[in-house]
Amino acid sequence: MAVVILPLFLLLLPFAAAQGPWQYCGTGGTYTSNSIYQANLKLLSSTLPKKAASNTTLFATDTIGNLPDIIFALALCRGDSNASACEGCLATAFQDGEQLCPYSRDASIYYHSCMLRFSNTNFLPTMVDQSWKTVESSHKFNTSIDSNSTRQLLFTLINSVIL
Ligand SMILES: *[C@@H]1O[C@H](CO)[C@@H](O)[C@H](O)[C@H]1NC(C)=O
Ligand SMILES: *[C@@H]1O[C@H](CO)[C@@H](O)[C@H](O)[C@H]1NC(C)=O
Ligand SMILES: *[C@@H]1O[C@H](CO)[C@@H](O)[C@H](O)[C@H]1NC(C)=O
Ligand SMILES: *[C@@H]1O[C@H](CO)[C@@H](O)[C@H](O)[C@H]1NC(C)=O
Repeated sequence: MAVVILPLFLLLLPFAAAQGPWQYCGTGGTYTSNSIYQANLKLLSSTLPKKAASNTTLFATDTIGNLPDIIFALALCRGDSNASACEGCLATAFQDGEQLCPYSRDASIYYHSCMLRFSNTNFLPTMVDQSWKTVESSHKFNTSIDSNSTRQLLFTLINSVIL
């Protein structure tokens, strides 16, 4: 695991130093004003921050809508964040996402304490499986990894996979 983790932490360094937002606008095309995609995004922005904040892991994924307007989304807060800060950060991320990646169907927004990605392509299975497996195995080994550092690890892993 150390072999994998080390490069990931190196990748995270520039991010950890910045407050953000820091965006990556994908190449998945654009949506138009008043489109179904925009409506789906709006719905997602009203549910996903709360969903992530209410999970003890401060992490949530969601899929909304149908092709061609389907949206896959992932929201995650840093381990040292709390529920209210998490929800606020993710709500801001949706707003900033629309500003920083105007009409982009695929956007990733990073802050010091949270990150959000939504996309019209499914980036979830491989990344989430991989990250959760790592977290689960760290639990199994129970190497004095508390819940905070587990979340921190997950945050790091997911970030590094997206980046
Ligand atoms: C929290 O998130 C994990 C991972 O997505 C999920 O397995 C779990 O069911 C969620 N818990 C709640 C209470 O939503
Ligand atoms: C949550 O975190 C924010 C930002 O660090 C802090 O201002 C706030 O007091 C915290 N709230 C609780 C309930 O701990
Ligand atoms: C795992 O760690 C916790 C906290 O340190 C401890 O209470 C628990 O007994 C440990 N579980 C196992 C299976 O070692
Ligand atoms: C996690 O971090 C919070 C805020 O820094 C702290 O209050 C809490 O005790 C920590 N939990 C563990 C298990 O270390």
